[in-house]
Order: sequence, then C-alpha cells, then structure tokens
Amino acid sequence: MDTTTDSGRMLRSTDDYGAFYKRHADRYAFNQIARVQRIWASSSHSQLKGNHSLINALVRLAPGPKGLDAGCGAGAVDVADLVGRDMDVVGIDAVKDNVEAALRLHPFLQGRVRVGDLSRRMAFRTATFDFVMCNAVIQHLSEDHVYATTLPELCRITKPGGVLQMVFKCGSGTVTIHDPDYNDVRSFRLFDERRVVGALRAHGMELVPATDRKSLGGLMYYVNNNGLKHCAFWTRKVA
Ligand SMILES: C[S@@+](CC[C@H](N)C(=O)[O-])C[C@H]1O[C@@H](n2cnc3c(N)ncnc32)[C@H](O)[C@@H]1O
Repeated sequence: MDTTTDSGRMLRSTDDYGAFYKRHADRYAFNQIARVQRIWASSSHSQLKGNHSLINALVRLAPGPKGLDAGCGAGAVDVADLVGRDMDVVGIDAVKDNVEAALRLHPFLQGRVRVGDLSRRMAFRTATFDFVMCNAVIQHLSEDHVYATTLPELCRITKPGGVLQMVFKCGSGTVTIHDPDYNDVRSFRLFDERRVVGALRAHGMELVPATDRKSLGGLMYYVNNNGLKHCAFWTRKVA
C-alpha cells in the first residue's frame, strides 16, 4: 500500500475502517452534525460549497422521494436530514457501531437504518429507488468489489429515470493520512473517475451534465480540509 507523509513522518498505513469507525462512531456522528469535513476548502464550481450543495441538488434532480444512502455513516445524518424533509429514505452501513450511533442520535430512524454490505448483492428489489447516494464509501472497498458488485448493484436498484450520486476520493492507488479531527491514521483507496463513469454507463447510467456555466453537473471536484481531492457527479438511469 502507498503511504504519504504527515509532517515529514512516514505513517503506517491501515485500511481497517471497521476498527476506525468502532473507535470513533459517536465523534464521527457529532462531527457530521457540526459539518466537520463537510464544508470544503476549494471546489471546481462556485455553487459547490459542501455536502449540503450536493444533497440539495440531488433532491431537485430525483424523480421521487424514495432514496437510499448507501454507506450512510455513523449518525446517518443525511438520512435524518432527508427524512426530516419528508423524503422516504433508508440507509445501510457495513459497521454495526455506525448504525447504533445513528439510532442513539436519531431514534426516529428505527427501521430506516441497518447493517448492509456494499461488497455483496443487496437485498433491495430491482428498480426500488428514485435516488441512491454513495458518498465517500468506495474508498473503503477493493477495486474488484466496486467494479464487479457495488456499482452494478447501485444501478440495479435505481429506478429508470432515477439518479445515482457518487462521491469519492479520486486518483490511483491508496493514500494514508493522519486525520487531525480524529487523531488517527486512515487509509483510502482512490478511484479513477472516468473509469467509474464508464462502468456506470455500461449499466445504463448517463452522466448528468451542467445545464449552464453556473449550475452543478458533469464531473465536479472538491478538496476537503485534509487536502484530499474528491470527485462528485450524478448519473441518471436511462428510462
Ligand atoms: C467516510 S464514511 C461516509 C459516510 C457518509 N456516506 C457521509 O457522506 O458522511 C464511509 C462509510 O462507509 C461505510 N462502509 C465502508 N465499507 C462499506 C461496505 N462494504 N458496505 C457498506 N458501508 C461501508 C463505513 O462504515 C463508513 O460509515
């Protein structure tokens, strides 16, 4: 695994995200609410200021209220936000501690968030959701799982005309950082955005373009407060 340095120090890399979230589930949930790492240092579009910019636009693009947050994270704050806007949203996450943190924080999410693994076929029926979002999750999966299972599954469960939002750290190989918000070492797998778009296209998804110079769409980029470059985009399933 590649490593980067932090303050000149070589870091031991680890991709044991389960152990990381187990250690930090409640803090992660609190940070999500406080928008830590959710307002970005810089971005490719003037309208792209933080996670809320993407979610607000996704709600406008979606043809209906039924959504899935695939890898909803500790606290499931986006699920809670969208349910609060009368959207019919559920969330899955691979880490039990993250789901438990979500239910402690938002008891009204009982029945809406549960453990689920995006490296396996999902239990949802084909064409279930008007929108699916998968934000900062594939960084924890192997390339083999992402291309063979995760992306095809996310497409399968999206309705024709529905929208899939993907957000991920872009590049090649892996990166390891010391994250000051958790005082911990984290490793992430990086993905080539053009390959991800191509894989989705092979499953009937078309990139949603920007309609004018000011609007969001196409391949969008931002850098978070850890200096990591991310790509975000929406694809719509051809009806
Ligand atoms: C960086 S967090 C992002 C959480 C949330 N989507 C957000 O945007 O804030 C990544 C999440 O992906 C989850 N995750 C990692 N691998 C997964 C898998 N195979 N299936 C489902 N969730 C997974 C982790 O447990 C973690 O909660």
